[in-house]
Amino acid sequence: MTSPDAPVRITVIGAGVVGCYLGGRLARHADVTLVGRPHVLDPIRAVGLTVESGEGEGDRIHVPAEQLTLAETPESVRHADVVLVCTKARSTAAATAAFVPHLRPEAVVVGLQNGLHSTDTIRDGVDVAPVLAGIVPFNVARTGPATYRRTSAGEIVMDAHPRAAALVDVLRAADVPVRTTRDMQAVLHGKVLMNLNNAVQALSGLPLRSQLLDRDLRRCVALCQAEANRVFWAVGVVPKVPVTAPARLLPTIMRLPTPVFRTLAARVLRVDADGTSSMYDDLVRGRPTEIDVLQGEIAEMASRLGLPAPACERVVELIREAEAAGEARRRWTGRALYAELTRARRRA
Ligand SMILES: NC(=O)c1ccc[n+]([C@@H]2O[C@H](COP(=O)([O-])OP(=O)(O)OC[C@H]3O[C@@H](n4cnc5c(N)ncnc54)[C@H](OP(=O)(O)O)[C@@H]3O)[C@@H](O)[C@H]2O)c1
Repeated sequence: MTSPDAPVRITVIGAGVVGCYLGGRLARHADVTLVGRPHVLDPIRAVGLTVESGEGEGDRIHVPAEQLTLAETPESVRHADVVLVCTKARSTAAATAAFVPHLRPEAVVVGLQNGLHSTDTIRDGVDVAPVLAGIVPFNVARTGPATYRRTSAGEIVMDAHPRAAALVDVLRAADVPVRTTRDMQAVLHGKVLMNLNNAVQALSGLPLRSQLLDRDLRRCVALCQAEANRVFWAVGVVPKVPVTAPARLLPTIMRLPTPVFRTLAARVLRVDADGTSSMYDDLVRGRPTEIDVLQGEIAEMASRLGLPAPACERVVELIREAEAAGEARRRWTGRALYAELTRARRRA
């Protein structure tokens, strides 16, 4: 049994931008292991890990490599009190199958991916320890080979559970805002609603802040959010979003003229000037995106319920085209994309 004074042992499965940022923040307060790919871990082995919050020089943390355990395979999970799963949704089942044989029954697993069902995928593979769902509301960018910068703000939310307490304590000690909830379903649905912006940002190629200040691009997001709201209403979920307005008003707010939106959404617009979404980063790096768990999930739910979701369906097609086209992908203007989604709605 671990001594009560021993540091919490945290293993990050899928150390990419989210996992390295959290690992770097937590390393002064916990015993952190990062399980990831060589292209991520080798630069950290060489120069240590640096994490920044974009809030000035004072918020730059450098963690020497010796202070971390870096591994390409997940055997170290056998020592972990907390396992943070930070893979992309598509890699979750395989990553879970790999770490489960090493998991201690006393541990707790927290899934931090986007999508409504990522944590269910982990639960399908784990039967010895509790699996909690969580969301990471802020964006992170890799700004150097071993440097990760948070480019927007927000509070991690995770399932309330007695075994979440140690993780909550170290996150707070590391100045990472976090809260627990008994209504994670509503939070996960709210996160999907907010993340419907990612595909529109990725198709435009503009930085997040500039994209959010383009009214036509916001209208595109509003079309998708309105479809999602109808689907969520039909299944009886009232999404909780990390803004002061209720979720059902998001499409209306997104459609507002830009000067009004700029005032109302001042907090949301506190994004680094060059911040982007992880979907855009995937397109740039030629990797498959998570469109299936965002607009794809809404389109699929709508189809099951017999509801229309033409804007979400069209966005899925456009992202697929962008994935296939690579560097030659189209950069959509707000005007052209809004016309395209409006045409899709008329055809439906
Ligand atoms: N990026 C953001 O700003 C952000 C913000 C909020 C939420 N999120 C969500 O957080 C999740 C993680 O996103 P991310 O951007 O951090 O992804 P990422 O940078 O792609 O990191 C995941 C890493 O895990 C690796 N991996 C996959 N399976 C593995 C395994 N079995 N063992 C070891 N490593 C493995 C991946 O390698 P391969 O590439 O080889 O698969 C990749 O290097 C996603 O669901 C995303 O939507 C991201």
